[in-house]
Amino acid sequence: MLSWFFGLIVLTLGVLGDWANVYEPSDDTYLLLDALAADLAVLRDALPGVVLELGSGSGCIITGLAQILVVRADLLGAVRPGTVDVLLFNPPYVPTSEEEAAGGQAERDISAAWAGGPDGRVVVDRLLPDLGRLLSARGVFYLLGVRENRPDELAAQVEAQHGMRAELIAERRAQNERLFVMRFSRSQPASA
Ligand SMILES: C[S@@+](CC[C@H](N)C(=O)[O-])C[C@H]1O[C@@H](n2cnc3c(N)ncnc32)[C@H](O)[C@@H]1O
Repeated sequence: MLSWFFGLIVLTLGVLGDWANVYEPSDDTYLLLDALAADLAVLRDALPGVVLELGSGSGCIITGLAQILVVRADLLGAVRPGTVDVLLFNPPYVPTSEEEAAGGQAERDISAAWAGGPDGRVVVDRLLPDLGRLLSARGVFYLLGVRENRPDELAAQVEAQHGMRAELIAERRAQNERLFVMRFSRSQPASA
């Protein structure tokens, strides 16, 4: 567990509902947890006061970090600009039709946990434009995804839009998926 490390405020945003619609921790969850555990030195340098997990699902990741305050919101809609030191997101990343992703987002049922639309990017692409504005000056963003999300293109996009540097920090094959975790930071992390 990472809980010894973070102390202050943690927000977690998600589409909360009854348990049937809560995503059970799976290979993707565990890859993100492992990547965070391996990245403790970088996280420590970020001196996080506010750690925010989008789409917390079971809470398996965020409860490993600290005390939590739960906020129900769509993506970063409830967040004050410049306040988030560490942002975590294991989004709905599975490539599906646009209709399937839109249905999940509208209904907020279990399909919202995985249905990612074309290239699995519909939800992530909605988040990216706001990233630079919402992260604090030392903010770091950890994103889990799958190869079909085109991580190289994501990295180039965030760098061009926000001047943030992307680094692939973990990869794992899980059944038929090639999962990755990418870390986006404003500058070269001191401990990297
Ligand atoms: C792949 S699951 C990950 C759940 C959990 N973080 C984990 O790793 O086990 C994706 C999560 O994103 C949430 N989600 C989907 N669309 C969202 C949105 N527009 N705003 C906030 N959360 C969203 C889903 O409800 C689900 O909890």
